[in-house]
Amino acid sequence: MVSAIRLYAESDDQEKAQHFEAVLSSRGVQVEIETVEKLNARFFRLNPELALCVDADGLWLCANGMKMQPDWQAETGRLKRASLKSEMIARACNLSEKPSLVDATAGLGHDSLLMAHLGAQVTLVERHPILFTLLEDSHTRAQSDAFLSQVVSRINLVFSDSADYLKQQAEQQIVDVVYLDPMFPQRDQNQQAVKKQAQVKKQMQLLHMLLPEDGEMDLGDNLLELAQKIGKRVVVKRPRLAVFLAGKEPNHQWQGDACRFDAYFRHELVAE
Ligand SMILES: C[S@@+](CC[C@H](N)C(=O)[O-])C[C@H]1O[C@@H](n2cnc3c(N)ncnc32)[C@H](O)[C@@H]1O
Repeated sequence: MVSAIRLYAESDDQEKAQHFEAVLSSRGVQVEIETVEKLNARFFRLNPELALCVDADGLWLCANGMKMQPDWQAETGRLKRASLKSEMIARACNLSEKPSLVDATAGLGHDSLLMAHLGAQVTLVERHPILFTLLEDSHTRAQSDAFLSQVVSRINLVFSDSADYLKQQAEQQIVDVVYLDPMFPQRDQNQQAVKKQAQVKKQMQLLHMLLPEDGEMDLGDNLLELAQKIGKRVVVKRPRLAVFLAGKEPNHQWQGDACRFDAYFRHELVAE
């Protein structure tokens, strides 16, 4: 996990930079603030190493001439077009029932934003301190957006490893749905899916630079059993041709072009 990172800011944004320095330091990340004259495309091209930057639009991750943040504002159009009928994730997670839902692998929070928009009450869990801080910043900015404020009022953020969180919750509560979308090695996907992803998700490239830990990708197999302890239904998002999480066959599947949803039901509770 990244434990030290540079944070670029123009002189007008020093206060914000210091705020994020303090927040990240409380989460175990050492930040070195560097004041720059202009945070523009040329600057990012000339400084390709992984770093953070802050500007009028909040906190960003930058590398290789690109910058990205969990841009929830940019999702607004997609949210407005989405419906319970048109979204496979809505059927997989039974969103028409307005479930309580734990998304145990938050990432950029896009799936959860959609699920909260379609009615779920979401707890979003992320363990990576930098990613969590980016999410928190997006959540804060969304609160002052006329459309998104309603949606994010149904999203609660938790900074934790989900294995710990799910173990804790198992002693206290049952939720309707636990949603899992762990990282998956791209080489195991079919070529079409890889191509599509590369076009759509420049954001994911930066995410992948941030996330690998010592070259090892945590595939999240340990989360399934823990999730089943608290979820009446566990839904796992997988690339279309990927192996089952933890090698465990689901009770039901929804198949899309690039991805699928595997669902595990907790029969004894559903029947109650
Ligand atoms: C593929 S991304 C999820 C993308 C997300 N569904 C979205 O819509 O943006 C996987 C995320 O899960 C997080 N993650 C993986 N294992 C975790 C764990 N045990 N606890 C908390 N977060 C975890 C990773 O840090 C990463 O951010």
